[in-house]
Amino acid sequence: MNENLNPEITENEEAAAELSLRPTSFSQYIGQTKVKEQLEIFIAAAKMREEALDHVLLFGPPGLGKTTMAFVIANELGVGLKQTSGPAIEKPGDLVAILNELTPGDVLFIDEIHRLPTNVEEVLYSAMEDFYIDIMLGSGDGSRSVHLDLPPFTLVGATTRAGMLSNPLRARFGISAHMEYYTTEELETITKRTAEIFQADIVDDGAHEIALRSRGTPRIANRLLKRVRDFAQIRGDGKINREMTDEALTMLDVDEEGLDYVDQKILRTMIEFYNGGPVGLGTLAVAIAEDVETVEDMYEPYLIQKGFIIRTKQGRIATAKAYEHLGYPAPLL
Ligand SMILES: Nc1ncnc2c1ncn2[C@@H]1O[C@H](COP(=O)(O)OP(=O)(O)OP(=O)(O)O)[C@@H](O)[C@H]1O
Ligand SMILES: [Mg+2]
Repeated sequence: MNENLNPEITENEEAAAELSLRPTSFSQYIGQTKVKEQLEIFIAAAKMREEALDHVLLFGPPGLGKTTMAFVIANELGVGLKQTSGPAIEKPGDLVAILNELTPGDVLFIDEIHRLPTNVEEVLYSAMEDFYIDIMLGSGDGSRSVHLDLPPFTLVGATTRAGMLSNPLRARFGISAHMEYYTTEELETITKRTAEIFQADIVDDGAHEIALRSRGTPRIANRLLKRVRDFAQIRGDGKINREMTDEALTMLDVDEEGLDYVDQKILRTMIEFYNGGPVGLGTLAVAIAEDVETVEDMYEPYLIQKGFIIRTKQGRIATAKAYEHLGYPAPLL
C-alpha cells in the first residue's frame, strides 16, 4: 500500500532514509511501551530456554514501526532475519524456497501478511505449528507428497488489519501485539533523534510542533521534519522553531491537528454532502476518489482516535468537533 502523504518525496529517498533512521534495539525504540515490555519478557525467556520465540503478529496503522519492530526482535534475539511480504509470495513453492533457507531460531518477517494467497497460507499452518511442510511434487497419477522438516523459527507477521486475517492463521500466533499511535512526547523525542541524525538545527518548540502535527505516526514526523528543514533553510536561517514549522506545515496543508489534505477532504465531504452522516465507507471513498482500503487503513483510524468521526452501524458520522475544527456551524442534533 502506498501511504506517501507527500508526493514530492520519491519512494527511494524515503526507503534509504528509513533504513538509516531505524532503531535497532529496544533501548533505541521509542514508545510502544506495552508491546516492548511484553516482548522483552518473551524474548528473554526464549533465549534462556534456547528456543525459538513464539510467532508474533504485529498489527496497526501504517508507519507506526511494525517493520522496525520486526528487525528489533531479530536483533534482540541475536538471530538472522529473512524478509518477504504477502503479495510477493504467489505460490506455495515461493514460500517453500524461503522456509528452506531458514537456520534454527531465525525470524521470518512477512509484511502485509493478510495478503497471502490462501493456498500459500495453508502451507504455513504446519510450518508454524510443528515446523514441517508437506509438499506435492508433480501432478496427476505421478504426484507424490514430500515431507520436509524445518528448523524452529519465529514468524513475525505484520498487518494493518488483524480483522483481515483468517482465523486459523491468527490462531497460530502465540503473541499478538497491537501497535498504538504515539503520544506527542514520544513523537517529540523521535523528531529530535531524527534531527540529530540529520544534523538539523531544531529547538524544543519546533520539535513539539512537528510532533503535534504528525498524526501520531513516526514516519510522518520524520517526513515533516525533512520538509520543515528545507523550508527553514530557504526561508530562514536553518533553525527549526515553532514559527518556521507552522509556516512550512500550513503551506503543506497540514493543519494544527495534524490533519492533511485528504483528512480534511473526508470530513468536508461528510459535512457538505452527507449532512455529517451516517455515510457508508464505500460511498465516502468514492466521493473523495480514494480506495476503501486506503480510507479504512490510513485515514479513518486517526480521525476516529482524534474524535472527528464516530463509527455506527449505519455508517460514519462527523462529530461536532469536526464541524468546529473546520469552521462549520455546529450540527443540529
Ligand atoms: N519507535 C520508533 N522510534 C523511532 N523511530 C521510529 C520508531 N518507529 C518507527 N520509526 C521510524 O518510522 C519509520 C516507519 O517505521 P516502519 O517502517 O517500521 O513502520 P511500519 O509500521 O512498518 O509501516 P508500514 O505499515 O507502512 O510498513 C521508520 O523510518 C522508522 O525509522
Ligand atoms: Mg513496514
